[in-house]
Amino acid sequence: MENKTKDSKKDIKSIFNIYTNLGEITHLQPRLVALLACGENLMPASWHMPTSKSPFRYAVAVREENYTHTLLEKNGSFTLNFLPFNYYEIVDKLGRIHGDKEDKLTLSGLEVEEKDTHNNVLLSASDFIYACEVCDRYKNGDHTIFIADVVKIYVNETQSNQPMLFSGRGRYMTISKVLRAPKPQ
Ligand SMILES: Cc1cc2nc3c(=O)[nH]c(=O)nc-3n(C[C@H](O)[C@H](O)[C@H](O)COP(=O)(O)O)c2cc1C
Repeated sequence: MENKTKDSKKDIKSIFNIYTNLGEITHLQPRLVALLACGENLMPASWHMPTSKSPFRYAVAVREENYTHTLLEKNGSFTLNFLPFNYYEIVDKLGRIHGDKEDKLTLSGLEVEEKDTHNNVLLSASDFIYACEVCDRYKNGDHTIFIADVVKIYVNETQSNQPMLFSGRGRYMTISKVLRAPKPQ
């Protein structure tokens, strides 16, 4: 009996491959994608999250080499445009070029609905948009985390219900099911 327990523990361990960095890994870890607009420059972003409900605050992690990093340091504001899944090819293209070398807005062909009070674009194709003002930053590793007050939330009257998710290595996906968990009695 004792031996059996030992063996089954060993089996469980052996199903995992172990890595020490992200370089080689191909596991699925889908993240919601947004186009971060600073002025007219568009940067696809999937490393972002809410950090406070009231006041509503949001964090984005931006790599120091990206032109967006320079723009955020200078302007202190941005919009996060959440586009539906069917824009994934444009988004992927924008993630391979840099705004200090190319006019990414023109290249994207995306329509601008209007601009926020800081001149950051609001893209018409978005399901919803967060207009953000940077209130804090934190550097640890190769990305800077910009924490921002979400000062306005724009919700499109027409929602796609097809959010764009990114799982690294050129893999995009969306959701096929929404399930509501039963309320505890
Ligand atoms: C789907 C997707 C998500 C990305 N997420 C991030 C991110 O969260 N943070 C980041 O710094 N770069 C991210 N990148 C990479 C940047 O979008 C890419 O380096 C871009 O060219 C930077 O543009 P910029 O130099 O004009 O700022 C992502 C790229 C893709 C395609």
